[in-house]
Amino acid sequence: MPLVTTKEMFQKAYEGGYAIGAFNVNNMEIVQGITEAAKELNAPLILQVSSGARKYANHTYLVKLVEAALIETDLPIALHLDHGDTFELCKSCVDGGFTSVMIDGSHHSFEDNIKETKRVVEYAHAHGVVVEAELGRLAGIEDDVNVSAEDASYTKPDQVYEFVTRTGCDSLAIAIGTSHGAYKFKPGQKPQLRIDILEEVERRLPGFPIVLHGASSVIPEYVAMINQYGGNMPDAIGVPEEMLRRAAQTAVCKINIDSDLRLAMTATIRKYFADNPGHFDPRQYLGPARTAIKGMVAHKIKHVLGCDGKA
Ligand code: G3H
Ligand code: 13P
Ligand code: ZN
Repeated sequence: MPLVTTKEMFQKAYEGGYAIGAFNVNNMEIVQGITEAAKELNAPLILQVSSGARKYANHTYLVKLVEAALIETDLPIALHLDHGDTFELCKSCVDGGFTSVMIDGSHHSFEDNIKETKRVVEYAHAHGVVVEAELGRLAGIEDDVNVSAEDASYTKPDQVYEFVTRTGCDSLAIAIGTSHGAYKFKPGQKPQLRIDILEEVERRLPGFPIVLHGASSVIPEYVAMINQYGGNMPDAIGVPEEMLRRAAQTAVCKINIDSDLRLAMTATIRKYFADNPGHFDPRQYLGPARTAIKGMVAHKIKHVLGCDGKA
């Protein structure tokens, strides 16, 4: 099966009350771990590439890895640019075979965000590619850009209808209290999401797919494992899975997960070296890391997203 856009996936997810996992990919083991889990569970999938991933692994290598996954799995898979920050980057991914791009104009003013998003939408749609936009600003770290909690801002429901109709975007990422990275909530702070904002957005945009970024749960077992084997990750707190499970049943059709994969991979490799200090064949530690990613993705598909059996 060739790469697909997210159009049909989102429509089915909206109607079916589940969400599609969008997992960040940076190398072969990550692509394999994610896609093996999705294949076993017959789940539709979004594989997403950040500009940092593109710099690290090279556009062509990532596209070819995803093409290999299509052959191996025969699943509906969308290849998505995560946090495109310029028209040029989005264009390059459209031209280079991606089926979905995000233009993240959330750091711009409302009017400039509309202008930039509209420009990407016009180009992408002319080439059969769908566009995710963002309104509101998440806290946390992406691509070494650190947005402090003070600079973050919730999405204003009053703005979403105008934004979507003027830009023509296909899905909208909103800020309701999730954030990027492993430190989403302060120690002692009760993790909370502004579900009231999500409900308001849903009311104003009936049938329109909403995206949640920064949706890792920062699984405590993996943080503990990292710390047990020489790491230092104090007070890493993510979004409780129960909250994400509920969000997946609403207009939220795409849930972005990266940090949980990084934690699973790193914890597994740390333990491997602690148990096998003399080993130096990369396959010996990357193999278990790939298995850990597969387990993490299978868990998300079954127990958070609810998209198993929906391919
Ligand atoms: O939202 C950011 C994703 O976790 C990708 O992170 O920009 O470090 O590749 P990255
Ligand atoms: P996490 O850091 O919570 O995994 O979020 C990933 C993300 O939003 C990628 O765009
Ligand atoms: Zn993100």
